Amino acid sequence: MRNALLINGTQRSGSEDGWIPVFDPATEDQIAEVADGTSKDALAACDAAQAAQVAWAKRPPRERSEILRTCWSLMLANAEELAALIVREHGKPLVDARGEISYAAEFFRWNAEETVRIRGEIGVAPSGTNRIIVHHPPVGVVAMITPWNFPAAMITRKLAPALGAGNGVVIKPPKETPLTALRIGELLLEAGVPDGLVNVVPTSTSGAWFDAVVDHPAVRMVSFTGSTEVGRVLLRRAADRVLKTVMELGGNAPFIVFNDADLDAAVQGAMIAKMRHSAETCTAANRFYVEHGVADEFAEMLTAAMGAVKVGNGFDEGVTCGPMINAGAVSDIDALVRGAVDAGAEVRLGGSPSNGKGFFYPATVLSNVRHDSPIAHAEIFGPVAPVIPFTDHDDMIRQANDTEMGLTGYVYTRDLAKGLRTSEQIQAGMIGLNRGAVSDPAAPFGGMKQSGLGREGSSEGIYEFCETQYIATDW
Ligand code: SIN
Repeated sequence: MRNALLINGTQRSGSEDGWIPVFDPATEDQIAEVADGTSKDALAACDAAQAAQVAWAKRPPRERSEILRTCWSLMLANAEELAALIVREHGKPLVDARGEISYAAEFFRWNAEETVRIRGEIGVAPSGTNRIIVHHPPVGVVAMITPWNFPAAMITRKLAPALGAGNGVVIKPPKETPLTALRIGELLLEAGVPDGLVNVVPTSTSGAWFDAVVDHPAVRMVSFTGSTEVGRVLLRRAADRVLKTVMELGGNAPFIVFNDADLDAAVQGAMIAKMRHSAETCTAANRFYVEHGVADEFAEMLTAAMGAVKVGNGFDEGVTCGPMINAGAVSDIDALVRGAVDAGAEVRLGGSPSNGKGFFYPATVLSNVRHDSPIAHAEIFGPVAPVIPFTDHDDMIRQANDTEMGLTGYVYTRDLAKGLRTSEQIQAGMIGLNRGAVSDPAAPFGGMKQSGLGREGSSEGIYEFCETQYIATDW
């Protein structure tokens, strides 16, 4: 199957007629090819977005809103097809892929509602000499660079508010999972999004693509989800043109369980926080700090729950964890597990990659992990749960915050006051207090420290795609 680029509302091959192979990580088989976008294609996409954006920004908010709402209903109407595409190119279990589609679609519905509520302000200058009028025009053209772990939702979380605010868009989906992105692009056209407003240009040469786009005069913003390492590079380059940026970067979430926690609920929450979407999420619980009194019991219960995880092809009945995205991911996970074991951790479950076809790693539990093991300081991005016992609260908080990342944290206790106090002590943008999931289109998604800049979702998200203009006037 060959898939074209989407530029200016038409499907076309790349200007150099190159093709990128797409693989099924469960079988390692090539399943498709997508056109390889060049810098020339990326610039053509920026031109198209620039031309379409002017008229789009002038359309009444209600019209933009209605089109976003149609995008929501079309995604849901095509949910089974989209979910199957995600399983094929990403590998996650079908149930997770279906969940991703409804999560992804919801960004359109939520932002359809936000589009008609972009607010301004009017006030009187303290001196009384004039009025101060504040309003929020769109930024112009936004470059979006999205990751492979949520082939649909990480696009719509950016795209829906950007369109609602009146912007044009150029998307570089990941080369691992471009098929879902291209299909979403087609559905947008069907929903009434004007030709050229949204362009989808996969590429095998990300650096050249980004260099071209950053220097296009209409591009005024970069919205990126991916690793902190790549985010830093993009930030430096975006600085050349002082572009607005939103960065959703890496995580290293502590999951804290106190002696008084409801352990059944904590294990259930741990399984969600660790394992949703094959454990390949930046919100994933990365380190389990468990108070001494329940550390053994929690590790035992977690081991039983992880032992029930069925790893396999995402299409197979009962599978709850699919393959990792590629061979490199499997060897990175394995190196972290080896490092923890060398530092004295006990392997309670799993612990080494499976042989044979597909990039599988088994559900793994490590207990008595040392805080100074590399695994406590790197984003695992795989089905491995390291359990670190603690006795002293302040020491545990120091360890939980001993990272440059600050995306998510989780706290389990029956004492709500202690839970809230502890939540406030954790340096992270999102906390699950007695909950294993934080992601919600209605909530501000984003990190502190090197986990990112800006927020996606909630009522804040749409303003990230707006400028602020103030008019001083005296009538
Ligand atoms: C991510 O892992 O990048 C996003 C996770 C989410 O939205 O839940």
